[in-house]
Amino acid sequence: MTSVVAAGFDVAQVRADFPLLRRQARGRPLVYLDNAATTQKPQVVIDSITRYYTEINANVHRGVHELSEVATEAYEGARVKVRVFFNARETREIVFTRNATESINLVAHAYGRQHVQKDDEVVISAMEHHSNIVPWQLLCERQGARLRVAPIDDRGELMLDAFEALLGPRTKLVAITHMSNALGTITPAAEIVRIAHAHGIPVLLDGSQAAYHMPVDVQALDCDFYAATGHKLYGPTGIGVLYGKASVLTDLPPFLGGGDMIASVTFEKSTWNVLPYKFEAGTPDIAGAIGLGAALDYITSVGLENAARHEQDLLAYGTEALTAIPGIRMIGTAAHKASILSFVMDGVHPHDIGTIVDREGVAIRTGHHCAQPVMDRFGVPATARASLAMYNTRDDVDALVRALGRVREVFA
Ligand code: ALA
Repeated sequence: MTSVVAAGFDVAQVRADFPLLRRQARGRPLVYLDNAATTQKPQVVIDSITRYYTEINANVHRGVHELSEVATEAYEGARVKVRVFFNARETREIVFTRNATESINLVAHAYGRQHVQKDDEVVISAMEHHSNIVPWQLLCERQGARLRVAPIDDRGELMLDAFEALLGPRTKLVAITHMSNALGTITPAAEIVRIAHAHGIPVLLDGSQAAYHMPVDVQALDCDFYAATGHKLYGPTGIGVLYGKASVLTDLPPFLGGGDMIASVTFEKSTWNVLPYKFEAGTPDIAGAIGLGAALDYITSVGLENAARHEQDLLAYGTEALTAIPGIRMIGTAAHKASILSFVMDGVHPHDIGTIVDREGVAIRTGHHCAQPVMDRFGVPATARASLAMYNTRDDVDALVRALGRVREVFA
């Protein structure tokens, strides 16, 4: 394997931790380049979930028996791991959800119902995933409010001046991605927060993509909400995270009603549990939270900064290799980006690219990537997208380039 061993980072060692990478696809060694959709899981994550169901399984916060205590400790221990990973000030600022989509919907409902009224405005950007568009559209429809969209330039960078020009007394929330899934752009999140706060406006950052490509420090960012999802952080599906400043979360009404989120219930009136439980109705994904905790331990043991350096090296290598192929146009060329190689090829529909490279064992995603407005902005119906994670190598990129050669032969 030709691999760059960055100081403190051995990609061959990392690959050995991910059992699925040893399988074949279409009779060839799997080349997995669809990490923006979901990442593979290290053995320690798989083991932690097996161990939970083999040795610990019980409901949390409910039993006085030993098993329930052990399960509760493991579940709450995972919450502490999330707090440390994102450097939140307090553990009660970490709410477990199903995914980043649910985290954003939670804010749209709880914060939105309370703070966004008729003729108010919510500001997003033109590079948002549908999950950071549709909840705000639904909110605006419900409340009679207006969605405003900050533009991006031809490289896929947020136009900060135009963004600031949208902010005014009616703006009740800014909700912007920390990293675009379709373009790879890393947004100037701290600057966005600083500008919005100068106008007295809280900010939600969608960290679905950013959180596994760079260290995220919610205190340094000073964002009010940060949404992330476990399955991209090398953890299981079905578990997500909402960070919210305690000062903001405390006053919000609940999102979902049910068990565990209440302090008391009568038929006349119910009162709410303390943070974060007010936002965790019903039995949570206990195994998922524990698996996510194991994933964060794993990322920390590898070193996210080491992994990020390795990925940046690969991104530069991949960008150069793809750009050199005649007829390929990269979509998303921001100066500050990570992981994503999104492209179109003259005369070939992206779906055909995906199908042909799949026959070579190369897994990429094609389509609009749940970001149709981004496709509209660049005037394409879809793109082919290879997305890198810590276990990818230059060999993987070379395999993609060879497979694209096959595409060219087929369409010659
Ligand atoms: N949002 C994920 C992606 O970009 C699913 O593929």
